[in-house]
Amino acid sequence: MDQTLYFILLLIAVCSVSECVQRQYHFINELKTWTEAQRYCREKYTDLATADDMNNMNELNKSKSVNDRSVQYVWIGLQKTGRDEWQWSSGEPALYLNWEPGQPDGGDECAVRLNGKWHHLPCSDNRHFICNNKNTGLVFVNQMMNWRDAQSYCRQNHSDLVSVRNQNENQQVQQFISDRQLSGSEVWIGLFRFRDSWQWSDQSDSSFRYWMSGQPDNYGGHENCAVLIPNTQGQWNDISCTDQYPFVCHEDELIVIRENLTWAEALRYCRQNHVDLVSVHSEEIQRRVMNVVKRASTAAVWLGLHNYCIMNMWIWLSGEIVCYQNWAPGNGTTPENCSLEKRKGAVQSGGDQRWISLPESHKLNFICSRN
Ligand SMILES: *[C@@H]1O[C@H](CO)[C@@H](O)[C@H](O)[C@H]1NC(C)=O
Ligand SMILES: *[C@@H]1O[C@H](CO)[C@@H](O)[C@H](O)[C@H]1NC(C)=O
Ligand SMILES: *[C@@H]1O[C@H](CO)[C@@H](O)[C@H](O)[C@H]1NC(C)=O
Ligand SMILES: *[C@@H]1O[C@H](CO)[C@@H](O)[C@H](O)[C@H]1NC(C)=O
Repeated sequence: MDQTLYFILLLIAVCSVSECVQRQYHFINELKTWTEAQRYCREKYTDLATADDMNNMNELNKSKSVNDRSVQYVWIGLQKTGRDEWQWSSGEPALYLNWEPGQPDGGDECAVRLNGKWHHLPCSDNRHFICNNKNTGLVFVNQMMNWRDAQSYCRQNHSDLVSVRNQNENQQVQQFISDRQLSGSEVWIGLFRFRDSWQWSDQSDSSFRYWMSGQPDNYGGHENCAVLIPNTQGQWNDISCTDQYPFVCHEDELIVIRENLTWAEALRYCRQNHVDLVSVHSEEIQRRVMNVVKRASTAAVWLGLHNYCIMNMWIWLSGEIVCYQNWAPGNGTTPENCSLEKRKGAVQSGGDQRWISLPESHKLNFICSRN
């Protein structure tokens, strides 16, 4: 018997005035664990389903009710990250660490500096602290506050609590502290223990949640994946990831291909396997690009943007000239040197995710459109 019954559940059209961007959901009526379901969706579609808002949920419910009502649970693409790591207040991961031997050892969540090394303390303790001011540098605040209040103080009055991201910055802080004869006292730095809870499989930063009341409860201590419950209008529950249930995949109109190809190779790939390299002629499409481009493994990602050097014009593969603009400073506006290698447009996968102009022989990931 063919177990691979899948139905296109719905076609959600998110339309602005000029654009119509589509996401398709596919209900897969096969019993799989969450990880197997994720693999299946990533192979055949984009990923396990993400829900951005109540419209998505309503659509999901409507279509689910035409299916088997006896289905208890359906996997969606939400999983507890289990992330439990030290991070800087600025949001950067803590790669350089300078703990006193034996630290960090327990559950305390915020870090102080004492005699050149770091310790952790309960965040509710009151200590002096060091802010970083992007314009004027380090600032010692001679007031005792708990870590959260110190963070707010620094963010409002300076930039943030100080980050110590490498040996060099460590030395600067060391110098700053010894200049003020503070070496023997504990001062807050911007390091804290970050325990994130739930994250979408496709890395979407959608903060929409639709938990059933009382959920997630982590019943039994190992409920790390989310399902929707067809019999409760699709509200969500947390259950064990190794249980087996049917699932919903989604298929975005854009797909990042994590292969490193020249622009011409990327173009050929998209045209053979999908439709085309993506043309970003509106802010709406740029938003979709920004959502998917996070999954790239290269710092820039090819777009369907090419330069007619002689005319000093940038044109989308879809044939339109570039009206909506999202160039990084210095890119896209100044005339290219036509005796050098031809240049094409790419989008940065991190930071501001702006467009940059690069020689076409660079090997980058790229984004294909599928419709
Ligand atoms: C910013 O500094 C002023 C003056 O020291 C202080 O009154 C205020 O509370 C500080 N802001 C925060 C959020 O702590
Ligand atoms: C593509 O290039 C990036 C950055 O140089 C690298 O990290 C990645 O492993 C490469 N991917 C492949 C499939 O070769
Ligand atoms: C294009 O933008 C990138 C990233 O901001 C920058 O490094 C580069 O210098 C810019 N190119 C030109 C020609 O200014
Ligand atoms: C363009 O590049 C060529 C080759 O590097 C160089 O000789 C020429 O001066 C450049 N022209 C401009 C306008 O920069």
